Amino acid sequence: MNLLVTAGPTREYWDPVRFLSNRSSGKMGYAVAAEAARRGHAVTLVSGPTALLTPGGVTLVRVTTAAEMLTAVRAALPECEVLVMAAAVSDWRPVQCAAEKRKKCGAQPDFELEPTPDILKTVKDLKGARTFVGFAAETDHLLEEAARKLADKGLDLIVANDVTQPDAGFDVDTNRVILLAPDAPPVALPLGSKRAVARELLRWIERARGESIEEPTTELPRAGGARLARQMAFVAEVDKLKQIVRRTWLTDGSRYENDAEHSWHLALMAVLLSEHAPVALDVGRVIRMALVHDLVEIDAGDTYCYD
Ligand code: PMT
Repeated sequence: MNLLVTAGPTREYWDPVRFLSNRSSGKMGYAVAAEAARRGHAVTLVSGPTALLTPGGVTLVRVTTAAEMLTAVRAALPECEVLVMAAAVSDWRPVQCAAEKRKKCGAQPDFELEPTPDILKTVKDLKGARTFVGFAAETDHLLEEAARKLADKGLDLIVANDVTQPDAGFDVDTNRVILLAPDAPPVALPLGSKRAVARELLRWIERARGESIEEPTTELPRAGGARLARQMAFVAEVDKLKQIVRRTWLTDGSRYENDAEHSWHLALMAVLLSEHAPVALDVGRVIRMALVHDLVEIDAGDTYCYD
């Protein structure tokens, strides 16, 4: 399936320095994107500002405001079969965004708000045979509010979460959700990691769309367990990269450099020099590529390109 997932907060600027936003970290949406990619689906992730690394195999589109998120969703919608709106989109924005930083002088600053575009409502008529999934972040009347939004936004499913709970909702690694679909009883999922919640959500979507996929054999990433053991074995294996000697010299000419030094240096340059790139880069992805690009030479040796 082709999924379009939104994640993170949006920022609605009042002046170049100040904005209206919320506590969304993006973890829930990124978990849905990561789990969907792990299950073999094609994923486009439209993300508000977060500090998270892009999950492997996911196409990232960065946005800042609700209006930009709407534009990105509209652009990606034609290719998608499933839309999962996990983003905490601001409902309001300042009517006026000052061109310069507002000064703390005299008059009470104007802080008049206006509604932002409701993305799900705006694309509701474009739904067709797609599966639309929303999230409901509530502090009270959880089920009533979620049911209202389910109907109001014309969704196939809404994932209701009580964001007053310390172990659920914004910025924590776990969530406790209730899945609400039209004409079906609510399904309460137990408290679990956001990856585990994402896996149950994707299973629901796959069943609803008659998609039967092979359950991935690798367990969900969690501290400890077989996955951690494999990761530690990998850490030990890549140490061998330090033994692969290249035909390039250190800058002081004292000796040849090895592959590990070369990969580290490339990654550092990506961090340092990305600001000069003619296009916006996903620097996290470039760093990951630089760090692993020569691992093959542990087995193949360094093939000098001028040989
Ligand atoms: O990001 P995390 O830190 O992991 O936190 C996870 C979460 C709490 C943000 C997530 O689980 C969640 O609840 N996301 C939805 C937050 C939200 O905006 O809920 P809402 O009830 O205000 O909106 C209902 C639905 O309408 C959501 O799917 C939302 O994406 C969508 N919406 C909201 C406003 C708007 N202008 N356009 C929209 O499409």
